[in-house]
Amino acid sequence: MKCLVTVLFFLWMASYCSCRLISEATGRRFNVLDYGADGNGKIDATPAFQKAWGDFCQASEEMPTLEVPAGKTFLLKSVSFSGPCMSKNPHVLIEGTIVAPNSFDSWDDDDYEKWIGFTAVVGLIVDGGGRFDGRGEAWWKACNDNDSACSKRRQALHFNKCNGLRLSNLHHVNSQKGHICINACDDVEVSNLQILAPDESPNTDGIDISESNHVNIHDSFIGTGDDCIAINGFSTSINVTGVKCGPGHGISIGSLGKDGAYETVEDVHVKSCAFKGTQNGVRIKTWETGSGYVRKITFEDITFVNSENPIIIDQQYNPNGNRGGSGIKISDVTYRNVRGSSADEVAIALNCAGKAACTNIVMDNVKITSSNPGKQIRASCNNAKGTAISASPTVPCLSS
Ligand SMILES: *[C@@H]1O[C@H](CO)[C@@H](O)[C@H](O)[C@H]1NC(C)=O
Ligand SMILES: *[C@@H]1O[C@H](CO)[C@@H](O)[C@H](O)[C@H]1NC(C)=O
Repeated sequence: MKCLVTVLFFLWMASYCSCRLISEATGRRFNVLDYGADGNGKIDATPAFQKAWGDFCQASEEMPTLEVPAGKTFLLKSVSFSGPCMSKNPHVLIEGTIVAPNSFDSWDDDDYEKWIGFTAVVGLIVDGGGRFDGRGEAWWKACNDNDSACSKRRQALHFNKCNGLRLSNLHHVNSQKGHICINACDDVEVSNLQILAPDESPNTDGIDISESNHVNIHDSFIGTGDDCIAINGFSTSINVTGVKCGPGHGISIGSLGKDGAYETVEDVHVKSCAFKGTQNGVRIKTWETGSGYVRKITFEDITFVNSENPIIIDQQYNPNGNRGGSGIKISDVTYRNVRGSSADEVAIALNCAGKAACTNIVMDNVKITSSNPGKQIRASCNNAKGTAISASPTVPCLSS
């Protein structure tokens, strides 16, 4: 038995090593150390990274590699890496740690959006097992008493128009604001990420998606102070599979329709995801003042442990300023094989009292109990139309 295990281990190592050799053999390597980057995390390495990016992005062969080596720490100020690049699969290999500046006056440009941006890089691969550390602590504290400092926080990693993006095997910690933003990208795969920030850190979303199509996020752990994943306007065909979420505010569609906006989200499938100690579980939230739709959504094989609002639709996310807009229609939303425990008395909340209705809401094999022994839970339900095939607690506004 021991021998068999050893043999299997070597076979596995051999296949692993040969894969690595193939990937190492493909294109030239552009190591940021060779461009003068300081690997002690003290001196700004941004100029060196930019120089390395320039050469790397001009390399036209199969899979050139921009290398951020292991065992080193690099201080990056706000930086934008722009394409198009010459190779069809440029590879950014992050084995070391990249840290953000640690003081409020460190952002010397006026782009209050992002720390590290990638724009219009087609076929980009980012992986390597390394780490992005946003060092957000001072900024989160400032959010309690210094608006000026709080408003200077930035999202950590920002991908814009990066079609074919492959992001995997990385650690993202303590961003000042959101950790990863995917905007206007088509055909994206995100996997094996670990995203961590404290429960009480404000606005530290795990992954934000907007204006993107064909996005597949899987096998990742996300525990932050805000949404684990938020799917925003003009996104279609989004799959989230095998994600563990908590702490955090759950997986959200929206909010949509803020300030009267027209927004749509379609074809979202959340499958085999687990929520632990989250403020929400699976949530759809829309502003009454907006217009547009959310449709063809499934939440399947979902488990909750001690989540405050396991299932929630809120069509009146912000009931104030109720003017304009026809509301955002919510339709064809299915919850199938959902299990677990709710920390709140209301385990299922379907608030569809906004101007546009919710139709064809389906609960199929949903069973949620209280995480407080002996306590009752219930569903609250306002104007939702659809079917409950099997739901506990009973959802009064759905027909059975
Ligand atoms: C508030 O933050 C700004 C930077 O945006 C800083 O210059 C200022 O000293 C801070 N004020 C206090 C009271 O911490
Ligand atoms: C999402 O999953 C469905 C099957 O559940 C599949 O047909 C579709 O191609 C997937 N989309 C993406 C972007 O992976």
